[in-house]
Parts: sequence; structure tokens; C-alpha cells
Amino acid sequence: MSEVSEVSEVSEVSEVQTVSVVRAESRVERNTYRIVRNEQIADGIFELILDAPDIAAVATSGQFVNLYLPDGAMLLPRPISIAGADADTGAVSLIYAVVGAGTRVLSLLRPTSVSTTTLTHASGIHFGTNMIEAMGPLGTGFFDYKGSLLTFGDLSKESFLDQNTARADAHGKTTVVLIGGGVGIPPLFFAAQKLRDAYGSEIEITAFLGYRNAPWLDERFVQICDAVHTISESLDNLSEVSPVVDSPSLRLGQAPIESANGGSRVVRASQTGNVIDLLDAWRDEIFTTQKEPSPLCSSLCSSLCPTLALSCGPKPMLAAAAAWCARNDIPLRVSLEERMGCGYGACAGCTTKTQSLNDPEKPQNGSDGPIIDGVIKKKVCRHGPVFWAGEVVW
Ligand SMILES: Cc1cc2nc3c(=O)[nH]c(=O)nc-3n(C[C@H](O)[C@H](O)[C@H](O)COP(=O)(O)OP(=O)(O)OC[C@H]3O[C@@H](n4cnc5c(N)ncnc54)[C@H](O)[C@@H]3O)c2cc1C
Ligand code: FES
Repeated sequence: MSEVSEVSEVSEVSEVQTVSVVRAESRVERNTYRIVRNEQIADGIFELILDAPDIAAVATSGQFVNLYLPDGAMLLPRPISIAGADADTGAVSLIYAVVGAGTRVLSLLRPTSVSTTTLTHASGIHFGTNMIEAMGPLGTGFFDYKGSLLTFGDLSKESFLDQNTARADAHGKTTVVLIGGGVGIPPLFFAAQKLRDAYGSEIEITAFLGYRNAPWLDERFVQICDAVHTISESLDNLSEVSPVVDSPSLRLGQAPIESANGGSRVVRASQTGNVIDLLDAWRDEIFTTQKEPSPLCSSLCSSLCPTLALSCGPKPMLAAAAAWCARNDIPLRVSLEERMGCGYGACAGCTTKTQSLNDPEKPQNGSDGPIIDGVIKKKVCRHGPVFWAGEVVW
């Protein structure tokens, strides 16, 4: 699997059970975990790997972990999506951007105890620890759509393919499209892994990834996806492309290059374009090989017509992806990243407006609150972060 599988040794974990979230089938607790790695993987982007067997055993893609900073550096936890989890090794990967005080403190933590003098933050907090408190996995994942908050749905053929059989049959193959932007990209990698692990070559996965600067996670997507389309706002030259995928044959905007697993990768640089432009270009390309319109697709349709789309990234991008998928009759699940307080359903600090879909093929999580003028307020941390795109009041 991914890099997380490199962790083989499981350490003693001392438990700090100050808060626990109880659900019917699962008890999510705040524990202390060993930091296996916390390294910069791109400019301002870090990967934190925790030795967290209890989280790794049940985590599903789209869920997140609350990280509590050491020495009570900040009262509120920092929610970070799960970018990978390996139940065999107990490793959990979290990829984050340093955007403020909390993530800056996080980036200073190291896997081994080091001299506190070298890691003393301006705030006076000492970082001589290789442990961090965390709570997870939290929230509803991309594939948890049985309609209940109380199911931590594993990705199984029952919970995914059954929901999509009609659409997949109509198109001959199950095709999933991933639409990611910035730090919304890592949780989609976990989704791709789960899909590939569950369905092997039965499924076609195409990723559309938008970066502000040079791409930093494409090499992992290329290993798993059938095709990866990337756009960057400021990719001026090829030397910025990560070495694993760089190749003499790779030229911006040129025909796809073959990757090790037969997948392909297209890189486009654009100061003005975005991931929706990538989707448009792809649609124009594949839909020129149009076959008869399927009863499920009112407009153009091809054998690559997606069964499902998953998206995570900035809210304007999610709204644009929702509009694009609606135009093209593609069911879309989006992962929202609202600002959070407690991160586990206790404070109502993360509510978002939703509406009922009344669609048996798209079961929705229940809500704690009433319906007022057709609007249902749901907690992103508890009823989400993943919702059907049509459910969200944009
Ligand atoms: C469910 C969920 C999953 C997330 N997953 C990831 C992830 O995988 N990787 C990652 O890098 N970040 C992720 N985030 C965002 C991350 O939690 C915030 O960037 C982080 O808490 C900021 O903490 P800070 O103290 O460094 O910044 P602060 O000082 O608190 O804020 C710095 C800046 O970031 C903005 N900001 C803070 N929190 C959010 C938020 N939740 N959404 C949008 N803007 C925010 C603030 O408005 C401010 O402009 C996720 C958020 C949620 C709710
Ligand atoms: S952050 Fe407290 S309820 Fe969601």
C-alpha cells in the first residue's frame, strides 16, 4: 500500500480518556498516540503519521481526526482528514497545510524526543514529546450512506455497488471520478485506495486535482488511479513536477504518459484555469465517443460516464463541482470543511444548511434539529463532513 505501511512496530499507547463520543456501534475516544513521522512533503504541506491502531482499524475515507495540541497550546482541536490508514500496521496518515498558529505548532512536533531548546515555539511551549492526543475517526465518510449516523459503514460491495448497480450496468463499468483541490486532495487519495482495494480492476478511477503551486500528491494518485489530470495555477516549469512522475516524455498539456500501473497522467499549467476546466476538457474528450444516451443520463453519455463523483476542497470549488455534476447527471458526494469548535457534535459550532433530497438512492443522515422553511441545519462534524452535493444549500 502507501507509505503508511512502512510502520511495522506498534508501541504502547497511554490512554487519556478525558472525552469520549459514544455511538451505537462505536466508541470514539480521545487517546494519546505516538508520532511516527511528521515531515514536510511540499512547501508548507506536512504529513503526520500516527501509530494509532484503534483508528486505523475502523477508519473509512472522508472521516477525520481531531488533533489536540501539546501543553494545551490551543483549547480547540484541529480537525484533519484521514489521508490513509493501514489496519495491519496501525498507521494513520494525516496531511495538513500550515495556515495558522495551530498547524504551525503541529509542524514542530517530532517523532523522537529532542532537545526542547531546539523546538521551543515563540509562545514558550516546549516540544520534547513524540506523542500527541487525538480523537477519531470522526464524522461520516464518503461511502457511509446507509442513512444513519450510527453506521460507520465499511466500504463493502453491499454499501457501495448495490447502491450503484443500475448505473454501473447501464454504462458497462463502475467509474468513479475524484475532484480535489489543495488540502482537500489527501482524503480523496484514501478514497481511491479503498476503492482499489475493494474492487481491483473492476473499477475505473479518474482523478482531477487542482493545486495552487506545484503538484505534491500526484505520484501517489498515479499509482492507484487509471488517469490523473492535474492543474496548477503557478506551474511554470517542469522541474517543479515531483521526481517520481517526472519523465522526459512528460510535457505540459501533452498526451497522457503511461504510469507503472498502466494509468495515465496529464498535467496542465494555467494561471486562470481551475479543476472545473479540467473536467470540461475531459468531458469534451470522452463524450465525443458518444454512444446511445442511457436512460440514466439525460444528456451525452459514454462508457466512461461516471457512476459516482467524490469531491473535497475549498467551498467555491465544491459548489462549482456540484453544478458541473448536476449538469452532467453524475451523483456527487462532497466533504465540507467548515470551521469547527469541539469537532464531535457537542457545540453546534459547525452547522451548515441542508435540504431533504427525498431520493431513496441517496439516503441522508438524520439531523438533531427541526426543518424550518425546508432548511435542515446539520453539524458538519457529526452528520458530515461528507454530504450529497444536492443536500447542501450552497
Ligand atoms: C472536517 C475537516 C477536515 C479537515 N481536513 C484537513 C486536512 O486534511 N488538511 C488540512 O490541511 N486542513 C484540513 N482542515 C482544515 C484545518 O482543520 C484547519 O486548517 C486548521 O484547523 C487550522 O488551524 P490553525 O490554528 O493553523 O489556523 P487558524 O489560526 O485557526 O486559522 C488560520 C486560517 O485558516 C482558516 N481556517 C481554519 N480552519 C478552517 C477550516 N476548517 N476550514 C477552512 N478554513 C479554515 C481560518 O479562517 C484562517 O484564515 C480540515 C477541516 C475540517 C473541518
Ligand atoms: S464542531 Fe462542535 S458541533 Fe461540530
